[in-house]
Amino acid sequence: MSSVVMTGISELATQGEQGLLTDAALVVEGERLAWVGPVTRAPDADERVDLGGRAVIPGFVDSHSHLVFAGDRSAEFEARMTGAPYAAGGIRTTVAATRQAGDEQLAANVVRLVAEMHRQGTTHIEIKSGYGLTVADEARSLAIARRFTEDTTFLGAHVVPQGSDAAAYVDLVTGPMLEAAAPHARWIDVFCERGAFDADQARTILKAGHDKGLKGRLHANQLGDGPGVQLACELGLAAVDHCTFLSAADVDALAQSGTVATLLPGVEFSTRQPWPDARRLLDAGVTVALASDCNPGSSYTSSLPFCIAMAVRDMGMSPAEALWAATAGGARALDRSDVGTLDVGRRADFAVLDAPSYVHLAYRPGVPLVAQTWVGGRRAV
Ligand code: NIG
Ligand code: FE
Repeated sequence: MSSVVMTGISELATQGEQGLLTDAALVVEGERLAWVGPVTRAPDADERVDLGGRAVIPGFVDSHSHLVFAGDRSAEFEARMTGAPYAAGGIRTTVAATRQAGDEQLAANVVRLVAEMHRQGTTHIEIKSGYGLTVADEARSLAIARRFTEDTTFLGAHVVPQGSDAAAYVDLVTGPMLEAAAPHARWIDVFCERGAFDADQARTILKAGHDKGLKGRLHANQLGDGPGVQLACELGLAAVDHCTFLSAADVDALAQSGTVATLLPGVEFSTRQPWPDARRLLDAGVTVALASDCNPGSSYTSSLPFCIAMAVRDMGMSPAEALWAATAGGARALDRSDVGTLDVGRRADFAVLDAPSYVHLAYRPGVPLVAQTWVGGRRAV
């Protein structure tokens, strides 16, 4: 197995055992990190690379995305920016376009978006279905997503499709659709919100998924108060995502449970909703992750640096908290111990920044700071 030692690291933000190191080095051996520490103690390796005084961070773990889709909803975005509200029903526009598209067209769109993510430092992603909403279209969406990641999520319960009866659709989702989706999925998710699925329906769907070996996660409390966050905590789900509207009891439930609250500021940016209050969650002891929610309706960004900048500027997170949330926090939300920190033995997934410190991710918003992205010990960018 060949090894590379990287020196000239002005700041190594490990998010792990060694905290924040300055004047650091790391060694990659095959797909893994073999050594991390001060440059003065760096061991020899087959190859030597001098990063010339740049910061290194773990690759971003984007724990929430909807990349399997076709079509464009820029007109909806434009209308929102002049006062129209966001409505869950817009999902059906993308469903119609996705059903029309061929497999290779859908896959090519994912390739494009994953490349975009790599260029912005993301090295591990979760991808949901949810724009097919028929047995065949959900199964193919997940089969396509599986080409890109182990963390695929069955979201047949995204919205009740046009012309379907809600109870009959829940039967379809928990029956034949789950049967066809399960071989391609690790997770099951429900959009638990007024206008989508209620708590009883969500509970039924998550239980059916659990019985098929799928782990649960939820979309909840995005458009208003609701029961989703408490349901996620009660069921001990790995993560509950959005968390924009939270009662004191919701925050307590999150703090008592191991459930990660995943905040998706791209949604609030693109819908003009109030920002989720990350500070309130962190002060209560809740584990917080940041993700892009990349999708053509509510958040068409693939950029975790942009999410970090919003979280720091408007959601009360420090730059250090935001970086942790977008790396180690994302790994926690996906229940993974192989990514998210730069500890020895982890996957060699990291980004080299054209900046002396990770703080520049928020300090220089909108600037393409990622100079290199390494995925599994290989350079992707
Ligand atoms: O996570 N909230 C539900 N689903 C997506 C939005 C989907 C859409 O508008 O197409 C989300 O925001
Ligand atoms: Fe989403």
